[in-house]
Amino acid sequence: MTNNETLKAIKNRRSIRKFKENQITKEELNAIIQSAIYAPTGHNDQPWHFTVIQNKEVLNKISEVANESMKNSEIGWISKLGSKNRPLFYNAPTVVIVSGKEGAYSPLTDCSAAIQNMLIAAESLNIGSLWNGLVSYFFENKEEAKILNLKEGYKPYYAVALGYKDCEQPVAPERNEDVFTYIL
Ligand SMILES: Cc1cc2nc3c(=O)[nH]c(=O)nc-3n(C[C@H](O)[C@H](O)[C@H](O)COP(=O)(O)O)c2cc1C
Repeated sequence: MTNNETLKAIKNRRSIRKFKENQITKEELNAIIQSAIYAPTGHNDQPWHFTVIQNKEVLNKISEVANESMKNSEIGWISKLGSKNRPLFYNAPTVVIVSGKEGAYSPLTDCSAAIQNMLIAAESLNIGSLWNGLVSYFFENKEEAKILNLKEGYKPYYAVALGYKDCEQPVAPERNEDVFTYIL
């Protein structure tokens, strides 16, 4: 079989930037975070921790603090983006912070594999998702970051925003197919 539900979910998944207000169900959240911990990891370290945030005030705070840090960035497009004060997670009702264990063999790679699993799992349930890297600007503010009570010895890398889609499925940016070499 050259097409199935998994392949469809992989190809259909797009970054979603408009979410409905209503929360995803506990079952949906569980299915998505469980998919994360089944990703492969170097040395089978499973060097990750996931902080699930559904508290609106906390989510707004992260956004506010990140935008303030972004404004001070020396990178032009980042400071411009920060000045817009746009909600970092586009008002998604659930955000998962993904942190990697310091000193593990390949924590960033492993956490990235876990994130991709979450995105595909979300898409398979028709739930919108967004991989967010700009959250790192929130973590620059060590004092404010304390509100997340992150696990000691773990470094926060990325966030995943989750929620019901409130938009048409975006069209995939054109793929560059000129990236395969076959040695037959
Ligand atoms: C490491 C990484 C960090 C990202 N950070 C952000 C982000 O902070 N904000 C955002 O809106 N999108 C972010 N994205 C989403 C990308 O912009 C998006 O994946 C890309 O434009 C391709 O679109 P697609 O996901 O619909 O295929 C990030 C993606 C990756 C892989």
